[in-house]
Amino acid sequence: MPASTAYAEYHRCLSRLADLDAALALLNWDQEIMMPKGAGPRRAGQLATLAGLRHQLYLTDLPPLLAALEDAAELDEIQRLNVARSRTDFAKQSRLPAELVAELTRAASEGQFAWEAAKEASDFAAFAPFLERIIDLKRRQADCYGFEATPYDALLDDYERGLTVAQLDAYFDALAGDLRQLLSEVQQGQTPEADFLRQVIDEERQWKFTLEVLDLLGFDAHYGRQDRSAHPFSTAMGMEDVRITTRLEADHLLDAVYSTIHEFGHALYERNLPPEAYGLPQAQASSLALHESQSRFWENEVGRSRAFVAWIEPRLRSCFPDGLRGRSTDELFRALNRVEASLIRTQADELTYHLHIILRYRLEKDLIEGRLAVRQLPEAWNAGMKELLGIDVPDDRRGVLQDVHWSIGAWGYFPTYSLGSLYAAQWRAQIENELGSLATLIEHERLAEVRAWLRERIHSQGSLYTADELCRRVTGRSLDPDLFVSALRSKLQTVYGFSPRPSVS
Ligand code: CO
Repeated sequence: MPASTAYAEYHRCLSRLADLDAALALLNWDQEIMMPKGAGPRRAGQLATLAGLRHQLYLTDLPPLLAALEDAAELDEIQRLNVARSRTDFAKQSRLPAELVAELTRAASEGQFAWEAAKEASDFAAFAPFLERIIDLKRRQADCYGFEATPYDALLDDYERGLTVAQLDAYFDALAGDLRQLLSEVQQGQTPEADFLRQVIDEERQWKFTLEVLDLLGFDAHYGRQDRSAHPFSTAMGMEDVRITTRLEADHLLDAVYSTIHEFGHALYERNLPPEAYGLPQAQASSLALHESQSRFWENEVGRSRAFVAWIEPRLRSCFPDGLRGRSTDELFRALNRVEASLIRTQADELTYHLHIILRYRLEKDLIEGRLAVRQLPEAWNAGMKELLGIDVPDDRRGVLQDVHWSIGAWGYFPTYSLGSLYAAQWRAQIENELGSLATLIEHERLAEVRAWLRERIHSQGSLYTADELCRRVTGRSLDPDLFVSALRSKLQTVYGFSPRPSVS
């Protein structure tokens, strides 16, 4: 078979798999947004059947096609990268015995159930045996994948290809020091008033405003939609159907706005993947950190900037004439960037958020590498919160039990949230090098140029490269957390009015 025919066959096979993935994604979306509650058990069976068929197709159809493409000489560079990526993915997946996959799935669903009850009752001891079982299984999974330095490297690779503990330790140790220093400076500054953001506002008007913001950002409703859900998320059934959700709370308008902006960033990535490559690795997002870098870019680099706040303020005022009466643009900007050490990760600000993540990362590593026993975890958590954020944890519900990730086996996932912010800052610095200041681009309503830059440099590359490779291609160097820290420092200096830190060299 000539290489071109083999490649076309391989692409067709991956398109069929993508069709099944889209059907699964749609069933999942429907389950969250539309499905009557009583259909839950039936839907679980339907999802399992479809996922099983997909897996079968993947295991039987793909290997001969990859074998037929063994001779890569006739392929062009992009084709070679696609095939190489499929080959690595397949090799990794086939290293897990079916029995372990089934057990991980079961442990995840039982774990989540146990976690929900334990969190409700703030009863860590009830959850501990489930956590021990999950950690055992994750260690076995790491053994199957294989690793050089630590089993945690193998788990990280599931979410962020190529990322290692050695790299993360370097990023996070520096980040922890810098952010704690910045937090203490902020705590000496003038805390902005933010209570005026918590007014009861009609939900229908909030909803309309989030749609207006989507329109301003360039969301194309011909290829996407927004719905409501308790936990905002985004999903895609191919690049022509990208869906997001937002959360409406009666007394917190800007929560909905910023959650919409965040999910818009995720949706734009999916929307801009190259359609001609549908099914291929080139048409899949590269990694979780890169995905999050897109949402954080729009939410924080764009959305929490002074220029953006000034830009949407007139619209905000006409939509909520009473809400902002007597408040200046500066007061709004400062309120939106208030920093406060607090207990819950998902409610944390742009600075303290990463201290929450660093704590989880360190604990995950210690648990997986066997330096920490599950029964010691709540104590280690509370000590870490005191050390990193300077606060006392009143109970496990608002402490070690707050997040779902560990119960469902998502170990190595948390670090990608912080990496997303770090990459976002690096994209912003590069955009400013090439297109000029982001503030000016926003003021002059030139966001189309920003979207085009992101599409060309990042989105259209899909997963041909790892996050680190792409970062080096786009910015000329690997991730540099200093860019994030210094940009945040200069913003917070404006917000809190503390003086620039004297440079020590
Ligand atoms: Co996100």
